[in-house]
Amino acid sequence: MKIIQIGVGGFGASWLDIVMSSKEWEVVAIVDINEEVLKKSIEKYPSLEGKAYIFLKDCLKKVKADAILNVTPPNFHKETSIIALKEGLHVLVEKPLSDTLKNAEKIVEEAEKYKRKIMVSQNYRYNKIPRTIRKIVDEGEIGKISYCILNFQKGVRFSGFRVEMPFPLLIDMSIHHFDLSRYLLSKEPLSVYAESWNPYWSWFKGDACLNIIFDFQDDVHFNYSGSWVSFGKDTQWAGIWEIYGEKGTIIWDNYGVKKIFEGKEEIIEPIKLEREDRYLSLYEFYRSIVENREPETSGRDNLKSLNMVFKSLESIKKGKKINL
Ligand SMILES: NC(=O)c1ccc[n+]([C@@H]2O[C@H](COP(=O)([O-])OP(=O)(O)OC[C@H]3O[C@@H](n4cnc5c(N)ncnc54)[C@H](O)[C@@H]3O)[C@@H](O)[C@H]2O)c1
Repeated sequence: MKIIQIGVGGFGASWLDIVMSSKEWEVVAIVDINEEVLKKSIEKYPSLEGKAYIFLKDCLKKVKADAILNVTPPNFHKETSIIALKEGLHVLVEKPLSDTLKNAEKIVEEAEKYKRKIMVSQNYRYNKIPRTIRKIVDEGEIGKISYCILNFQKGVRFSGFRVEMPFPLLIDMSIHHFDLSRYLLSKEPLSVYAESWNPYWSWFKGDACLNIIFDFQDDVHFNYSGSWVSFGKDTQWAGIWEIYGEKGTIIWDNYGVKKIFEGKEEIIEPIKLEREDRYLSLYEFYRSIVENREPETSGRDNLKSLNMVFKSLESIKKGKKINL
């Protein structure tokens, strides 16, 4: 199938390597408002010469494609995705689906109106350890789950928009963890109570630390603790997960995944996957089109993860528990 990648700077540069190496996709054009990054992409992939555009609208007038891969910043996701949907293209978009819940809902509505796929590449869940944990949870190996704790700690010296924006951790990063929580627990969240703050040494303008409690279906409680300004032992990007069930606890940390029950520790061998991470999300997008079904992380599904972000924000601002 033919794909146009929009946004080839930043994270888009590594995305271009992925789509260029794909057996299922042919990159028929690249689009970016920054001519420098277009030039760099062509230097790396000379076959893209003559296929680079500054504006998506101009590109779509000349190029026939099945889909776009949207790796622009979140505030451009709505406008660019809807342009493509209206032209009959499917859309794979980087997280977050959009910069506001309202804009995200609009993208999903437009995709449904034009009967096109809209999928968010929530790459964290497309990895072998989360897939293994989900299988263990679904098969009831740790019994009924009561609570789950996630600890995310990093001291990341970003430059650019993240340093300036309000609530950088919540708005830019937590969607990965929230989407993982829905996936790993195989349940939906019902309410949230959230607090945020900015340590006095923080190099971010907005609050870089979070303490959040989500109540999920079936009386499952999820405690989220996150920081982007911690000095110490960094957790992995997915964070350190502890899932407590009646027949055992699953721990997923920087070193792998294990199950602990009554003092006995069992290292878990992750399931084998032929593809992982963005390679797998890109393949899931392709399969959903071929099989004409909803992708696993469709826009419609993703609204539930995004809702966790924006309802957390509401809780922080109002200082009270919010229903989702
Ligand atoms: N999944 C992950 O782990 C992960 C990691 C990093 C970034 N991201 C996501 O990827 C997206 C892009 O982030 P980034 O860090 O690469 O941003 P960035 O600002 O570094 O790069 C965005 C690129 O898009 C281009 N662009 C901006 N507006 C455009 C428009 N209207 N039309 C065409 N091109 C446009 C810019 O020129 C730039 O080259 C964001 O949604 C971000 O959250 C995801």
